Amino acid sequence: MAVDVLLGLQWGDEGKGKIVDVLTRNYDIIARFQGGPNAGHTLEFEGSKHVLHTIPSGVFHTKSTNVIGNGVVIDPVIFKKEIDNLIKHSVAVNEVLMISRKAHLILPTHRLLDAASEAAKGKNKIGSTLKGIGPTYMDKTGRNGLRVGDIEHDDFKDRYQHLVDKHKQMLANYAGFEYDLEELEGPWFEAIEFIKTMRLIDSEHFINQSLKNGKSILAEGAQGSLLDIDFGSYPFVTSSTTTCAGSCTGLGLAPNTIRNVYGIFKAYCTRVGSGPFPTELHDEMGDLLRKNGREFGATTGRPRRCGWLDLPALKYAIDINGVTHLIMMKSDVLSGIETLKVCTGYKYKGTEIDYLPYRTDPGLVEPVYKNIPGWSEDITELENFDDAPQNLKDYVSYLEKELEVPITIVSVGPDRKQTIKLGDTASV
Ligand code: GDP
Ligand code: IMO
Ligand code: MG
Repeated sequence: MAVDVLLGLQWGDEGKGKIVDVLTRNYDIIARFQGGPNAGHTLEFEGSKHVLHTIPSGVFHTKSTNVIGNGVVIDPVIFKKEIDNLIKHSVAVNEVLMISRKAHLILPTHRLLDAASEAAKGKNKIGSTLKGIGPTYMDKTGRNGLRVGDIEHDDFKDRYQHLVDKHKQMLANYAGFEYDLEELEGPWFEAIEFIKTMRLIDSEHFINQSLKNGKSILAEGAQGSLLDIDFGSYPFVTSSTTTCAGSCTGLGLAPNTIRNVYGIFKAYCTRVGSGPFPTELHDEMGDLLRKNGREFGATTGRPRRCGWLDLPALKYAIDINGVTHLIMMKSDVLSGIETLKVCTGYKYKGTEIDYLPYRTDPGLVEPVYKNIPGWSEDITELENFDDAPQNLKDYVSYLEKELEVPITIVSVGPDRKQTIKLGDTASV
């Protein structure tokens, strides 16, 4: 069987958690391939809301297996809290979750380095979630990192200490940065002992063997394509490959095993943290989108920056991921807006362009908008797209024409049930 990949096409928080949860019943295995506790994936069903950070969003379905792949970075303390929470909700975590031995560990000192580095950047800060993501991936590519599999070996504490000593020297370069490492180490080592009781696997073998045995896999992305380390708005990005290629390196998948690529986007745009955002709205419309969309970070609680949909950016993300199906989220948030705007290009160095240029700093690019009539109806109870307001249907048709990829799901609210499948979506 093949692998399908679901990933965000914007700056994260597109609604990946909700849709993975909706699609899980079609798959035997749900696997996270990159990122770590910087992610916050929200699921709502049966009147309750859950936010997952490291654990795949299929965990509430007893029939599927969830895998944390080698490309993920794990903070043991946050991970243990997440699991404790799931156990409270009667999820038999050890039966449905497996962890790659090759996933890297976020040390307390990685978090300290993240905080020190961001503070030192001042007004140029990335706006990191401060979960230690950057420093952990730096140690991974720098060949210094510690991996989950290392906790099963006797030299783990020595290797930990060796890395921490190195980090302490680095922290000493940040004048005035104070910390209490001992306070952080206690819970961290407790959580390490807990992880030892979990199902640690060589996930690349498990994944490939499962494929040979006819199992179906959904790879769940974190963050979004515009936060990708190579293709995002560098340096205001995260430190992993958030694009489709990341599912290969983050799970040990061969590229030719990938079948569908589900690209998920909001019917508008949001961004949390720093960095260019050409269609950002600094006016009442931005406030309205934030209020109606409840645009506050699932991980940090920070208000999300809001703006109109950006087609050149979306086309770029579709191209680099090979998106086969589009999923449009939060359509309900646009209800009641008389005229919607969609960015179709930019004014750039005196000419109009319809692609994403190398830099999109404010002042360098100015969005060109097309006005589109909005719809006034509340669509949160909509079950069949045939009954949708005509202007919503037209919005969807317009986007499909521009993006040249079918929209196969329209989401009209945060709940699992508020999900409308469109057209012939047998595979979705
Ligand atoms: P993720 O990181 O991509 O999983 O997305 P987040 O969970 O960080 O953010 C998406 C937010 O939008 C969450 O609060 C979801 O509950 C909510 N949400 C998802 N889909 C919809 C939708 O169609 N309409 C509305 N109003 N909210 C949605
Ligand atoms: P999900 O999976 C939105 C952003 C941060 C910051 C930048 C770098 O929920 O969509 P990092 O902590 O990785 O060093 O932060 O990336 N960021 C996210 N924004 N959703 C996320 O994940 C994000 N993960 C990181 O705000 O701008
Ligand atoms: Mg999120």
